[in-house]
Amino acid sequence: MKVAYIWFTVAIACIFTEAADEISWSEAYAKAKVAVSKLADKEKVTLGTGTGSGICVGNTAAISKIGWPGLCLQDSPLAVRLAYNVTGGISGINTAATFDRDLVRQRAEDMGDEFRGKGVNIQLGPDVNMARIPESGRNWEGFGEDPYLTGIMGGITVAGVQSKGVIATAKHFIMNEQETDRTTSSSEADDRTIHEIYAWPFARAVEAGVASVMCSYNKVNGTYACENDETLNTILKGELNFQGFVQSDWGATHSGAKSANAGLDMDMPGPDAYWGPTLTSQVEAGKVSEDRLNDMATRILAAWYKLGQDSGYPNITVNDNKVDVQGNHKQTIREIGAASAVLLKNINQTLPLSNPKSIGIIGNDADSANYGPLGCTELPCLSGTIASGFGSGGSYYPYIISPAAGIQARAPNSTQVKTSLSNLNIIAAIQIAKSVDYPIVFVNADAGEAFDRISLNVDTFGNELIEAIAKHNPNTIVVIHAAGPVLMPWVNNVKAIVYAGLPGQENGNSIADVLFGDVNPSGRLPYTLAKQSSDYPAHSTLSPNVNYSEGLLIGYRWFDAKNITPLYEFGFGLSYTNFSYQNLKITTTPSKVTVKAQIKNTGQVYGAEVPQLYIGFPKSAQEPPKILRGFDKIKLQPGHTKTVSFVVDVARELSVWDTPSKSWKIVNGKFDAYVGASSRDIRLHGSFSI
Ligand SMILES: *[C@@H]1O[C@H](CO)[C@@H](O)[C@H](O)[C@H]1NC(C)=O
Ligand SMILES: *[C@@H]1O[C@H](CO)[C@@H](O)[C@H](O)[C@H]1NC(C)=O
Ligand SMILES: *[C@@H]1O[C@H](CO)[C@@H](O)[C@H](O)[C@H]1NC(C)=O
Ligand SMILES: *[C@@H]1O[C@H](CO)[C@@H](O)[C@H](O)[C@H]1NC(C)=O
Ligand SMILES: *[C@@H]1O[C@H](CO)[C@@H](O)[C@H](O)[C@H]1NC(C)=O
Ligand SMILES: *[C@@H]1O[C@H](CO)[C@@H](O)[C@H](O)[C@H]1NC(C)=O
Ligand SMILES: *[C@@H]1O[C@H](CO)[C@@H](O)[C@H](O)[C@H]1NC(C)=O
Repeated sequence: MKVAYIWFTVAIACIFTEAADEISWSEAYAKAKVAVSKLADKEKVTLGTGTGSGICVGNTAAISKIGWPGLCLQDSPLAVRLAYNVTGGISGINTAATFDRDLVRQRAEDMGDEFRGKGVNIQLGPDVNMARIPESGRNWEGFGEDPYLTGIMGGITVAGVQSKGVIATAKHFIMNEQETDRTTSSSEADDRTIHEIYAWPFARAVEAGVASVMCSYNKVNGTYACENDETLNTILKGELNFQGFVQSDWGATHSGAKSANAGLDMDMPGPDAYWGPTLTSQVEAGKVSEDRLNDMATRILAAWYKLGQDSGYPNITVNDNKVDVQGNHKQTIREIGAASAVLLKNINQTLPLSNPKSIGIIGNDADSANYGPLGCTELPCLSGTIASGFGSGGSYYPYIISPAAGIQARAPNSTQVKTSLSNLNIIAAIQIAKSVDYPIVFVNADAGEAFDRISLNVDTFGNELIEAIAKHNPNTIVVIHAAGPVLMPWVNNVKAIVYAGLPGQENGNSIADVLFGDVNPSGRLPYTLAKQSSDYPAHSTLSPNVNYSEGLLIGYRWFDAKNITPLYEFGFGLSYTNFSYQNLKITTTPSKVTVKAQIKNTGQVYGAEVPQLYIGFPKSAQEPPKILRGFDKIKLQPGHTKTVSFVVDVARELSVWDTPSKSWKIVNGKFDAYVGASSRDIRLHGSFSI
């Protein structure tokens, strides 16, 4: 049976097409219940108990009498981790920076092919946490600081991965927003903030059919997220009507009966003192009901049936290096790498480079790096370019194209290319800066699991390197590979800045595509770049209670509300061409508001624009000044015009969470509609009433 979810939040209704053989949840539940009825309590518990060892990062045991092979759960959100002959995928944050639904879907299908090809049942991704604090070590795994953007990116990713029959895992539920003390701290936010910001992307993942959700390490209001009745039972399984199973983060289970009764279905990686035989005896002692045990088992089996894994699923070959699942996926990686590069500054059209006499490639980030075991995706990157963060969110690369190699391969033969790939040999770097037309300085900022960044500066004296080069050459170009926001004390001293994020194994080719104009940059910032660290609403904290006192004012919403001018705002990015906006038209029906505008390429070259719709709610709603409710990527030849059409779902997107009644309430009154090229570059303004 073919099921299509129509998602009306977007310009062109986005169709989440599932795999042709995917069945409905009710059909999957029916099959699962038949199987569960054949199992003893001990076996039902086995379904949800990690074995602690096996080929994959998470494994469960087989039960032959129901033809159950056991499950393979494998990191990461961007590629098959700890495996060879897989592509070194592209980070979530770069995926978000494309603002391009088609590329997000393509990436997800590529990942689905690779996980399936290696016999992985469950991908541990996507990460749909919010970039609440700028220094969080895992911001690069997710999709940025806006819940609407994250919801769409997460939803498309889930649909794309699951279209290949692989179970996706939306994680980490919920408010896992810092790495410091992540297993002991308690995240404390009010009910409205939880619903409108932190649960929102999970709601969209559930709508897209996600079959697993991972509960997080942290506590919520003093109770561990994996034994939290309010977040798991009430919100996730109740309000969001999640039909799949909840698995713990690795070691995030702290109890048996308490967790089971709060809604946890699977304990990873196991075995431990809480699940397995302990849980079985708690069921026998009546501390966990038979119904709850059946529900757990049914949810796990139903997810497996729903994705069609009960027939013809490939054997597990995560550890078989000869199984090559890369296909042509490096093309998607190169394309997303270029499409996610954000051109922040480009004085006098310094870029693209066209037949310069000479260029300099300067800085350690332009060099090659180790992306194998003990390399830059498993540990902090000690040397070379950063194309991924580290920890469980990474994967080995089959190769890495360094920026130096990518540029050398693409530079015209008539261009002299000089390189100095050390951040510390300032003398050599300055010599190059003095002797070339354009010095291109590569700097980076690394981050990964278990560590928040200690500052927002680029790493390894990168600021000093840029200042030194800029002093000796007025045409300095800066390229930044970063896991999160960085400060730019040198911003006024350089001609051009490209913010390239973490672009994966094709790093050097992707940046060369942009620098030489083969690709016109069209990436947009998925988070705010502030002038100074203290401008951000919140930071990593050592306090055991992490108070989300900024409430709804996450990211750009804070900067708008407090009238703080960012260095570069959310949604910002330049192009090698220009676009004009005209003819705003707003029409309303009781269920939908449609906002249309015409976008014209007024410059000289082909390019893509990302028109964005922000909504200002009536004052009575007490929302931030404006919030994202639409975006699209419009590709245009010079002189051409297209109409962008944003369709806003009134019930979902123009309502607020009402805590007293525990429900969404549509707001009545006059709304503002802002259409623009970023959260601060508003080109058209209109209003409508509900
Ligand atoms: C946490 O406490 C706040 C303040 O009492 C409350 O608004 C919120 O709903 C609680 N959230 C959870 C998940 O318990
Ligand atoms: C999968 O593994 C089984 C058991 O080892 C084996 O019989 C079968 O041939 C394998 N299938 C493939 C496609 O390799
Ligand atoms: C990748 O797979 C090919 C084909 O099976 C094999 O020849 C090659 O050695 C594998 N590469 C690695 C790194 O194992
Ligand atoms: C940009 O170009 C104009 C015209 O050539 C020149 O006057 C101006 O100084 C340039 N600006 C910078 C910052 O180089
Ligand atoms: C440089 O020269 C080689 C050999 O003639 C040619 O194959 C290549 O395309 C040239 N590269 C560029 C960027 O023009
Ligand atoms: C969190 O901060 C808010 C706003 O500053 C304050 O009203 C509230 O008491 C704080 N909560 C805790 C638990 O510290
Ligand atoms: C875009 O328009 C501005 C203002 O007219 C102009 O200064 C700039 O050069 C244009 N940029 C491009 C890439 O055409």
